[in-house]
Amino acid sequence: MQDILEQLEKKRAAARLGGGQKRIDAQHAKGKLTARERIEVLLDEGTFEEWDMFVEHRCTDFGMDGDKIPGDGVVTGYGMINGRLVFVFSQDFTVLGGSLSETHAEKICKVMDQAMKVGAPVIGLNDSGGARIQEGVAALGGYADVFQRNVMASGVVPQISMIMGPSAGGAVYSPALTDFIFMVKDTSYMFVTGPDVVKTVTHEEVTAEELGGAVTHTTKSGVADMAFENDVEALLMLRRLYNYLPLNNREKAPVRKSGDPTDRLDMSLDTLVPENPNKAYDMKELIVKTVDDGDFFELQPDYAKNILIGFARMDGQTVGIVANQPLVLAGCLDIKSSIKAARFVRFCDAFNIPVITFVDVPGFMPGTSQEFGGIIKHGAKLLYAYAECTVPKITVITRKAYGGAYDVMASKHLRGDVNFSWPNAEIAVMGAKGAVEIIFREDKGDPEKLAAKEAEYKARFANPFVAGARGFIDDVIQPHETRKRIARSLVMLKDKKIENPWRKHGNIPL
Ligand code: HXC
Repeated sequence: MQDILEQLEKKRAAARLGGGQKRIDAQHAKGKLTARERIEVLLDEGTFEEWDMFVEHRCTDFGMDGDKIPGDGVVTGYGMINGRLVFVFSQDFTVLGGSLSETHAEKICKVMDQAMKVGAPVIGLNDSGGARIQEGVAALGGYADVFQRNVMASGVVPQISMIMGPSAGGAVYSPALTDFIFMVKDTSYMFVTGPDVVKTVTHEEVTAEELGGAVTHTTKSGVADMAFENDVEALLMLRRLYNYLPLNNREKAPVRKSGDPTDRLDMSLDTLVPENPNKAYDMKELIVKTVDDGDFFELQPDYAKNILIGFARMDGQTVGIVANQPLVLAGCLDIKSSIKAARFVRFCDAFNIPVITFVDVPGFMPGTSQEFGGIIKHGAKLLYAYAECTVPKITVITRKAYGGAYDVMASKHLRGDVNFSWPNAEIAVMGAKGAVEIIFREDKGDPEKLAAKEAEYKARFANPFVAGARGFIDDVIQPHETRKRIARSLVMLKDKKIENPWRKHGNIPL
């Protein structure tokens, strides 16, 4: 028996060593942790239960039968994050570059299947040279098996991808199908075709970092949600994000009460909005002063900055925040911000997270680049997302709510549950100046008359009471009581239930 036990330990040690000390050292020299070290940082200490440590690939081509490493380049299993279950796979770059073989894919599929059965999220730590070249189509099939599971799990259990090394070719599509993508600066990149192919086909010279590094994907493409300085920071932030999420679509997110009283007033909010309607202010200040402990976990902070999205808590309960940001492009809606917010609203709706929307929007962004880029279709995504959303929806208009953007931003007409407005709000088809220039076009040469008409329009429409008179606004509130009023609304909405009509699935304008 002793022999057998020793054998087992030997086998385990071999698996733990992955591609060997030299390759582990090389991984460290790049500033990267190994697959197992990453799992240690991510999970609560001592909670990792590893599966399939002894799995080996079945490939015999190109001398591969002599190159078998137990585990086959991916560490899989489950564990806990702050006492809550999570399934994990972590690709081991020291084993054939973390490349995905048929068996490597089977290991990932196994944890995904189990996660679906028990209703727990899946976190993938990606660090891979892509499909294992020696295996050819078997590896491609493996990828597709993972993709299929990503899609089936979408909206059922949260899926999070952390890119911690290469992710190239079709391999990028598994992360792309998950709910959140995080990247590590300087050591991770994602692209469908690498710099060499780009040079051959389009004659562009570009480095891997420029083409698909963390900065590119968090500022230009919007593919990734956040970029972190190193592996440890990334994994610790992932633990923080995890605390906001429910385990699956039938559960609510965990409640983490803070000492922050829900009736806390913030008098400084009464002067947040400048007197001059054309002057900007920072909407983040309102968010931070409203939510528990000022703690706002912002997503995509460097992409489409004219809209803010992220998680926070109200009386301990996770909420999703969507807010126009007047500091950038006056907070208007454009293609990028519509897509950014739409996807976030859909995540919240899928996972029972109430949505709080702060509105200060002058409308949709005009211009040929927006129209040619399809703002009609992309703006409709946000409209669609809010309209199909059945979780509690609370909306606060802080200043402008003009035109179609008024409708889109969780208005009463899109089943907003509680719609508040601050007293200075302007809810109208458009700003007074633009409106008068259109209605009184014939008076173009008479600036005095136009100014008088503008003042008249302003007095008539640039306030929340016209909407209030119709019940489109439930109440006009003092800015300083925003937190209290939202908190009370959330209590009232705690057991909200509405259902959309049965259908196979809707047809969101993609
Ligand atoms: C098998 C691979 C591999 C792969 C890397 N390795 N990628 N083995 N299949 N796809 C091996 C290398 O041979 C090497 O083995 C070890 O991993 C480390 O690789 P290096 O090249 O030394 O590392 P580095 O210099 O850091 O470069 C990493 C890399 C490069 C940029 C990822 O290895 C690379 O370009 N690999 C090929 C990428 C690729 O074309 N993949 C296929 C994409 S198509 P040794 O023994 O020397 O340590 C794809 C299709 C998916 O993925 C489609 C899904 C639908």
